[in-house]
Amino acid sequence: MEKFYITTPLYYVNAPPHIGHSYTNIAADTLARYKKLKGYEVFLLTGTDEHGQKVEQAAKLENMTPEEFSDSIVPRFVELWRRLSINYNDFIRTTEVRHIEAVQRVLSLLKNNGDLYLSKYSGSYCTPCETFWTDIQIEEKETCPYCRRKLERIQEENYFFRMSRYQNWLKEYILEHSDFVCPDSRRNEILSFLENPLMDLCISRPRARLSWGIPLPFSKEHVTYVWFDALINYISGCGYFREQEQFEKFWPADVHIVGKDILRPHAIYWPIMLHAIGLEPPRRIFAHGWWTLDEEKMSKSKGNIVSPLEIIEKYGTDAYRYFLLREIPFGYDGNYTEDALVLRINSDLANDLGNLLNRCLTMVEKYFSGTVPALKKEVICRELKLEAQKVTSEIEVCMENLDFSGALSSIWRLINVANKFIEVSKPWILSKEREESQLSGIVYGLMEVLRIVAIAISPFMPTKARQMWEQMGIASDFSSASFSDMQNWGLFPSGTTVNKTEPLFPRVVC
Ligand code: MSP
Repeated sequence: MEKFYITTPLYYVNAPPHIGHSYTNIAADTLARYKKLKGYEVFLLTGTDEHGQKVEQAAKLENMTPEEFSDSIVPRFVELWRRLSINYNDFIRTTEVRHIEAVQRVLSLLKNNGDLYLSKYSGSYCTPCETFWTDIQIEEKETCPYCRRKLERIQEENYFFRMSRYQNWLKEYILEHSDFVCPDSRRNEILSFLENPLMDLCISRPRARLSWGIPLPFSKEHVTYVWFDALINYISGCGYFREQEQFEKFWPADVHIVGKDILRPHAIYWPIMLHAIGLEPPRRIFAHGWWTLDEEKMSKSKGNIVSPLEIIEKYGTDAYRYFLLREIPFGYDGNYTEDALVLRINSDLANDLGNLLNRCLTMVEKYFSGTVPALKKEVICRELKLEAQKVTSEIEVCMENLDFSGALSSIWRLINVANKFIEVSKPWILSKEREESQLSGIVYGLMEVLRIVAIAISPFMPTKARQMWEQMGIASDFSSASFSDMQNWGLFPSGTTVNKTEPLFPRVVC
């Protein structure tokens, strides 16, 4: 079985999770479920980033040690992932021994290769971004070029990683691998960044200033820079150094899904770190856009956050998952509003999909006493069959490119073709005129579309897809449905007794 290894970023534990975090994990989970449908052995890794100054400071504010503080926040992420139906295979915390040992191993390898050197450093530091800036990098001396917040002046002795050694290699690699950094706009951004000389990366912090970090194996005075530590999770989380067999099976990762704000560490530091220790880079790094609130990036530090738990309490997990992936193409920014969410629920979910299911089940009940008829005249629903096949191929193309909204809009085209088909073929008239075989052809075709739609939406809305399956009364286990079941027309078992219950998506009344 071919493997597929997907990662999410590790979330800082300095505050509880918000929409932006849930977005990445919903995308990763959806892709994982899709790949499972395609028959892959999927490994989905998520977790938490627990070292560094930000976490140390947040813990201090709560009068806790960083360990106690992290232990109090991690369950909130775990609970959110459970509520959002995120089926990860492993959850890595950067404070775990397996991770610490892997980081120290990488540091020792780099040291032995001559890739690290000790040097005096003077510059400015931005704590929220955990980033050093040299004087030439900052135009206005006082503020961070990323977030515009106040910088701290710092002079210290640290270890540096000779990234500059590998600049040409990275540039060539990106040029030769057009899918390595996605989407294209981000790839161009990284390539143009690489036009300028790459600075060596400061990978340590003096223990005297920051004690909350992984100790350097070769210096008692220093701990590891939090970004250098965190990136290594992608290998420590799949067995590096400890479980060689598992590591060889899953590395390189097939895709790292990250937000656009953290593309640089992923597309520059990380491949160079891996190359320097003789490991392959990940196959792809995909940077998605930001969710904004009133056109401003939602972030813990700005305090303008919307809690995913409140939204799913009110509208349900699957509607929320659908909204985030449908509303904006993956890779672009989008503004969150409750009105837009309600509109999607009422029009796409309740009107288009919910109604289609409801109308079809009602027809099976009314015209065929609740039992799905046999497919007598396939020619009648040829249009549905062709559309279903076209949509299935489109889904494949979209999902390979992480184009979730594209895949969903193809599925909705099929749903709308089926709704239109009912209007045009007028089954209620055929029933009056006792056109039995015409009617059974139409109803069978529609049930077949619903079977295919249930499988197609299952990566996006796993609970609702299963409920659809149950209402259609299909006896086979939904968990064993596969992508090829979508490609084969005519698999709906005739003679199945439907099981119509409450509407799949009740309309939201405002
Ligand atoms: N700890 C680092 C990542 C280390 S990965 C080895 C980090 N953590 S974070 O908690 O600040 O952010 C995690 C992810 O959430 C990032 O991919 C970031 O882009 C994403 N989001 C945070 N706010 C966001 C929005 N408002 N919208 C969409 N995603 C954003 O960075």
